[in-house]
Amino acid sequence: MRILVTGATGQVGGALAARLQGLPGGAAIIAADRATLDLAQPQRITATLDRLAPALIINAAAYTAVEKAEDEPALAMRINAEAPGAIARWAASRAVPFVQFSTDYVFDGAGAKPWREDDPARPLSAYGASKLAGEAAIRAAGGAFLIVRTSWVYAARGDNFLRTIVPLARERTELRIVVDQVGAPTSAALIADAVAEILAAGADNLRRRFAEADGLVHLAASGETSRHGFACAIVAGLKARGVALAVEKITPIGSDEYPTRARRPHNSRLDLTRLKKIFGVTPPDWQSALAAELDQVARELSGSAAAT
Ligand SMILES: NC(=O)c1ccc[n+]([C@@H]2O[C@H](COP(=O)([O-])OP(=O)(O)OC[C@H]3O[C@@H](n4cnc5c(N)ncnc54)[C@H](OP(=O)(O)O)[C@@H]3O)[C@@H](O)[C@H]2O)c1
Repeated sequence: MRILVTGATGQVGGALAARLQGLPGGAAIIAADRATLDLAQPQRITATLDRLAPALIINAAAYTAVEKAEDEPALAMRINAEAPGAIARWAASRAVPFVQFSTDYVFDGAGAKPWREDDPARPLSAYGASKLAGEAAIRAAGGAFLIVRTSWVYAARGDNFLRTIVPLARERTELRIVVDQVGAPTSAALIADAVAEILAAGADNLRRRFAEADGLVHLAASGETSRHGFACAIVAGLKARGVALAVEKITPIGSDEYPTRARRPHNSRLDLTRLKKIFGVTPPDWQSALAAELDQVARELSGSAAAT
């Protein structure tokens, strides 16, 4: 099967392009970067997809700069809503299954209950609004699609919370981290494993299950923590791996003490019942997924220390 994975230079796209090579029955992965398929130019998408002729499309490319999206909402909309809509229309017209990623930021974060797929979405940010508009554009196109909402994505590489904490913990004695945002840190590798498990069902089962899930599923690591709890686990995990850190204290602060342009949900918990029931996928807890990434970070840091 020819599988097109967009966003191949990103966290999730990169992990998926590597992971799907090992799908049972074999898969030819077309790992597309923005030079191959530029989502900022939705009008070119049909011609590019005609040329690439995939049998399955996974769109892991997105405008993910949450703060910057407040300044360029139109560009975020083009990349996160118009372009996925164009991909979905192409896929629907050729009966090609389509997998899209979305986000916990479509919710307003009220309450403390894990969000179910059919809970009302009320984004607080331009980024969240653009991702929700993308969901609607895909739904309007019809066809066999699955929108996978995930949360707090990170990896040993890339631009993410883990990669932000590592240098800070090496330089500063105190970190001040938001404690009133709760969710599940989800590694790109965990997402790639879960998507591979979903796809292993085969094309016919895929269409049936996508429909059974009403084209929408939540996928995150099991368990929950705050941003502060995540930072504490990163620091403790690095220390346990012998990484020298300057940090002595990690102070919990409220979101109001760390103002950002984009508002983020306090409650990012995602309910995983549909994922387990329809797709038979039970994700590992966030701590074990983190351990695998920390092993990699610690290896790299000890490698760079040895080289200096
Ligand atoms: N990061 C999170 O915390 C998070 C949380 C929930 C959901 N998600 C969703 O999960 C998915 C994957 O996110 P991620 O964390 O892997 O993102 P990421 O690491 O920021 O990667 C984004 C990817 O999109 C590509 N891209 C950006 N603009 C593009 C354009 N105009 N045309 C083509 N490609 C373009 C980037 O290419 P370049 O390398 O060239 O920039 C990169 O490959 C996205 O749908 C995102 O909305 C992410």
